[in-house]
Amino acid sequence: MVTCRAPSNIALIKYMGKTEGNCPCNASLSYTLHDYWTEVSLEENANADVFANANEFSEQAANRFLAHLAYIKKLFGYSGFFTVTSRNNFPHSAGIASSASSFAALTKCAAQAIGATISTEQMSEISRHGSGSSCRSFFSPWCVWDENGARKAEIKIQNLRHELILIDSTRKAVSSSEAHKAVKTSLLFAGRPQRAAQRMTNLIAALNENRWEEAYHICWEEFADMHALFATSRPHFSYIQPKTLEWLTAIDRFWRTHKDGPIVTIDAGANIHLLWREDQKQLHIPSLY
Ligand code: PMV
Repeated sequence: MVTCRAPSNIALIKYMGKTEGNCPCNASLSYTLHDYWTEVSLEENANADVFANANEFSEQAANRFLAHLAYIKKLFGYSGFFTVTSRNNFPHSAGIASSASSFAALTKCAAQAIGATISTEQMSEISRHGSGSSCRSFFSPWCVWDENGARKAEIKIQNLRHELILIDSTRKAVSSSEAHKAVKTSLLFAGRPQRAAQRMTNLIAALNENRWEEAYHICWEEFADMHALFATSRPHFSYIQPKTLEWLTAIDRFWRTHKDGPIVTIDAGANIHLLWREDQKQLHIPSLY
């Protein structure tokens, strides 16, 4: 039996909109979340590929996982079968990027079980076919992903404290795969790659020059941009819940009072991710619960 673990990642510049093979319509930048991981085990099976804990996922998600395993086996001409077991240490399908860690872990595990000797870059490229954002989980702590693939991003700030404000851990109504398709119907989508690229340049510069407040504003504008695409798609949809807005208001108030605070972002879900610098240990947002 082979067991591999991979971390999740949170994008500050978001990947939204894709073409065939999960190729991104715009470049993205992520921070790797080592405390949020998936562990995948593969055990040889004489007859077929079986997903042992498939009942914990939607049928579509379980099939997608097995399809990725089949894709990797085909790539390396492997004819054997496996029983797959997957375990997260956080809720999946809730906008906490579980597809990133799970597909990265499956790719790592399958490559090892098959005996394929490939580079981290190749592994990331293969993982992208299963889930786009998973290709960023191979590089740490920062990863940039564009048309040339994913790679480590050189950013001076290395250790950030991640905090998750969990507002809803239930399965989301619109999957990120559906969101990638839907956003193309938004009139705002036309300028999206340029806006993301501009913010990426500005954010990397701000982080490297210790302009933290500027980084906070860029990240806020970036998640708001992605959620504006959702709001202006046809049919429109939203992940934002009343509690999400309450927390965002509280965080913004905190920033205005203290002239300091966390970087904030929201993925395709209701939950809020905060990133704090190491020297901000004494700061925290007063709980709304
Ligand atoms: O990898 P996917 O298809 O689950 O897309 C993830 C998209 C976002 O999480 C919303 C943004 C991102 O860059 O991770």
